[in-house]
Amino acid sequence: MKKSKRWMIFLGLMATFTGSAAFPLGADAQAGPFSAEARQKAEDLLKQMTLDEKVGQLNQSAGIVIPGLANDKPDDLIVQGRVGSILWLTDVKEINRLQHLAVEKSRLHIPILFGFDVIHGYRTVFPVPLAMASSWDPEVEEQAQHYAAQDARAAGIEWTFTPMVDIARDARWGRIVEGAGEDPYLGSAMARAQVLGFQGERLSPQSVLACVKHFAGYGAADGGRDYDSSYIPEELMQNVYLRPFHAAEEAGAGSFMSAYMDLNDVPASGNHWLLTDVLRKDWGFEGFVVSDAFAVASLQTHGYARDAEDAAYKGITAGVNMDMASQTYTRNLAALVREGKVSEQYLDSMVLPILEAKYDLGLFDHPYVDESRVDAVLSRPEGLELERRLAARSMVLLRNEDHILPLSRQLKRVAVIGPLADSTHDIEGGWTVEGLFGNGSKSHPVTVYAGIRNKLAKDAQVTLVSGPEPARIYPGLLDRLAGHKPTPPPTPQEIEQWIAKARMAASNADIVIAVMGETANMSGEAASRATLDLPGIQQQMLEAVAATGKPVVLVLENGRPLDIRWASEHVGAILEAWYPGTEGGNAVADVLFGDVNPGGKLPISWPRTAGSEPLYYNHNLTHEPEDRPDFTSRYWDINSKPLYPFGFGLSYTTFRFANLHLRKTTMGVGDTNEVSVDVTNTGAVAGDAVAQIYIHQRYGSASRPVRQLVGFQRVTLQPGETKTLTFPLGKNELEFWSPQKREWVVEPAEFDLWAGEDSTATLHQTFQTTQ
Ligand code: BGC
Repeated sequence: MKKSKRWMIFLGLMATFTGSAAFPLGADAQAGPFSAEARQKAEDLLKQMTLDEKVGQLNQSAGIVIPGLANDKPDDLIVQGRVGSILWLTDVKEINRLQHLAVEKSRLHIPILFGFDVIHGYRTVFPVPLAMASSWDPEVEEQAQHYAAQDARAAGIEWTFTPMVDIARDARWGRIVEGAGEDPYLGSAMARAQVLGFQGERLSPQSVLACVKHFAGYGAADGGRDYDSSYIPEELMQNVYLRPFHAAEEAGAGSFMSAYMDLNDVPASGNHWLLTDVLRKDWGFEGFVVSDAFAVASLQTHGYARDAEDAAYKGITAGVNMDMASQTYTRNLAALVREGKVSEQYLDSMVLPILEAKYDLGLFDHPYVDESRVDAVLSRPEGLELERRLAARSMVLLRNEDHILPLSRQLKRVAVIGPLADSTHDIEGGWTVEGLFGNGSKSHPVTVYAGIRNKLAKDAQVTLVSGPEPARIYPGLLDRLAGHKPTPPPTPQEIEQWIAKARMAASNADIVIAVMGETANMSGEAASRATLDLPGIQQQMLEAVAATGKPVVLVLENGRPLDIRWASEHVGAILEAWYPGTEGGNAVADVLFGDVNPGGKLPISWPRTAGSEPLYYNHNLTHEPEDRPDFTSRYWDINSKPLYPFGFGLSYTTFRFANLHLRKTTMGVGDTNEVSVDVTNTGAVAGDAVAQIYIHQRYGSASRPVRQLVGFQRVTLQPGETKTLTFPLGKNELEFWSPQKREWVVEPAEFDLWAGEDSTATLHQTFQTTQ
């Protein structure tokens, strides 16, 4: 594993917390995500800094006032050089005002690094990350994040808290929407793509610093309850949860965010094993770590730190460079250094990468936002075209009985049903930059209702029956900040009226399109659920319109898989649109009417009900095969298999997989091999197949997953066309962290190999590895 020269220096300093540096910080040291030039300049600057100014660089202040949580506006601290970064600020005038204070009024003129959660677009909002992962097309994700980076940079945001690469195997966890799903291989590809999208090959004055989060294991919260503790044995950390993080680090990510929760009884933001042993020592990471919001102060809340001083000590010595918003470093760190509890040399090593990032981002040369061009950049029309294309590419067709889809554009009478059908609030999903903190979104989202209208002739009758908006029992954090109260549930009379209206509209239509799921604030942070039902009266409305006998298409807008067992048997077609973004409604219509042939695939195993969770395809074998009906080790009251398997998604055409071939059926453990497979479009229209390669190691020093994704490619095929696709098979695909050997190994063993359209693929071969 990678170990850098910087790491050797860091190690030396760690060893001498209270003493003098074991190694000097040499200018010739190998730069990690940052350039050697930035390194030199940062070292020179560091020499001029006072202790308070150094601590200042480790402080990220909130750019807004959060009642009861954060400080007032940070003007005075900025002038004293005690603010390294600011978050939660998107008002460019305010960004410039604060930057002028830092650059003109502070002693060393060090610019502030402005950070914000640009998760899936800025003004043009792209599909949510779970949707982008459903494209199984990392290039798509890279393009979107590159576009978002250009927008963000023009608007004064130089650092984004993206990508979120937490593996999530439990749909009850609200933040499953922010990641790439359950699989480490797919997750790694998406992680890499996002880092490249934001930063480019190297950080530059045009790019945005990526922040890989939430390091690590946040997605494994007990019971899917957000923030709850995670208990993850090291083999699972290494083989599953850490893999996308490592991929992002290898792609050059300049920063990481330490997570909130306890990991194996040690809070992630005070976890030396994670932040130092794994991240710096094993991987050789040379960027910097910011805590999640208030997480350094929260080391006390967890019952891990005695008081604020202890929290600062535990945070910094674990390896958190920057304290997000809690002011714990600002108030305690200088004293810790003066008392000799933290050495100044160690402090220097924590400050240095932050300065380097600022140099490489060009902040010292161009600290201000050009306010005159912000709106023009954020309103670039090509963004909307890209968004629409990506959104359609991300959608997953789950069901299409009797080829009910694609629909005809000649349709004359359509009923569009459901609270999400015409909701501009929800189609973009959570984390919309301009929608946060009350700034007000300036995008003009296209709803599914509007998208359908756009496709049909002017005289077509498109009847909308929305129904009552389902409400969370507890309003979300942002709702609370905005003073929103939960909407009262509808009365029995109101429910009856809505159902009657929906039934009437369906009876008078040739087809019903039900747009249902969750409002955007039902998933995301602090938005976990104990059930996965369609919330509110949506299920009743759906059953009522289906009872009319009219064909029904269900379009899902949601941030997690839902319990759609009834729909999966009773409605004609189901299209998973996730939260598809600004042009989402047009993209849904593109797919419904066949202008785009859907090619997205599930990045998660779709549970039948909440009780199936956690559910994932890459589990181990048990002593009883899953399929044995008489003595199954699984549930007896529901089918223990997913409703739709990982990797699944239909198309308007069909594909055949054949000729699965290995260049060598016996290979040395250190060899590289190649797999090839022929994919043919056997239908009548062009379409995208996602070829997926899975392996299983039959025996070894540990039980290995029943299947494991080790390759995929999305390809477009014309009717009748065949493509031969090749995939590498070597160390990267075969190695795993062995709990008994406590290292990464490729073992001599027999393997199964499958190729096909999803994780239940049947086209099979075997191969062998030898010592
Ligand atoms: C979230 C992070 C986010 C941070 C800053 C936290 O509450 O957990 O994902 O980046 O806030 O907005």
